[in-house]
Amino acid sequence: MGSEIKNVGVIGAGQMGCGIAQVSAASGYRVQLYDLSPERIEAALATVNGNLARQVASGKMTEDERKAALALISGSADVNDLASADLVIEAATEDESVKRKIYASICPVLKPEAILATNTSSLSITRLASATDRPERFMGIHFMNPVPVMKLVELVRGIATDEKTFTSAKDFVTKLDKTITVAEDFPAFIVNRILLPMINEAIYTLYEGVGSVDAIDTAMKLGANHPMGPLQLADFIGLDTCLSIMQVLHDGLADSKYRPCPLLVKYVEAGWLGRKSGRGFYDYR
Ligand code: CAA
Repeated sequence: MGSEIKNVGVIGAGQMGCGIAQVSAASGYRVQLYDLSPERIEAALATVNGNLARQVASGKMTEDERKAALALISGSADVNDLASADLVIEAATEDESVKRKIYASICPVLKPEAILATNTSSLSITRLASATDRPERFMGIHFMNPVPVMKLVELVRGIATDEKTFTSAKDFVTKLDKTITVAEDFPAFIVNRILLPMINEAIYTLYEGVGSVDAIDTAMKLGANHPMGPLQLADFIGLDTCLSIMQVLHDGLADSKYRPCPLLVKYVEAGWLGRKSGRGFYDYR
């Protein structure tokens, strides 16, 4: 038996945190969306509002359900507002030092029995857990982007995660109507262990002049039935996130087959991070 979760804290009002807040509220959880930036919170709440309105327009949700979900989400830049959370999901940037700082600031505020989860897409759960005061109540709950659309959530235990925590997380994710896959705590888990080398290879294919951006994406969309071409998907995920996952694979598995493509490194150094910065393999400006 897991413990009952009613109040969910989400840390980070970026694209993942925003999506996690949306699906949690739509499933009846009270959500506190925490971010240091009030502007990011405001933008995230506007995105949730727009997404829910689209669901009403397409008949997937009633107007009353939309209002109920919105009423369940509040945003805050005050860490003390996480004090009532039963489960906190950290969806901050994929930078271990940032995550460690966040854990140091929130752990003293959280209820002792609260579960702390990370949405990390690649970092070691065991190592992140060691930066908290609750390794047994810490684990990975990894959502896919865009969260409201993608059916899968990866669950990852750290070495110290206890069964009650795992069961509570499993019950929570099941209530969100997502499908669970369990991955062991290895670099990038399952989805990104497979997906990111494919994206990196697509970037090498561009770098070596095998094909143009359009040729590569068309080839994989029509030749392999992928919903997005790999370069379009890289832009969608964020090229900084793609690079950081490749670095985790390269460092963690010590195999040159995971070497990040120099073109990916160059784009990130240029600040061409994909959709979120207005420019990546495509121009969004
Ligand atoms: N947020 C919320 N909803 C969204 C959305 C977003 N960002 N983008 C699309 N949608 C919704 C639309 O509203 C639409 O909903 P309705 O059916 O209710 O109208 C539905 O998704 C389909 O959207 P569209 O018709 O506009 O577009 P599409 O058919 O081209 O689908 C897509 C868009 C779902 C993003 C599709 O292209 C896709 O599945 N792409 C691949 C995504 C993917 O691989 N994600 C995994 C990334 S890896 C990851 O997340 C792991 C990691 O750690 C890096």
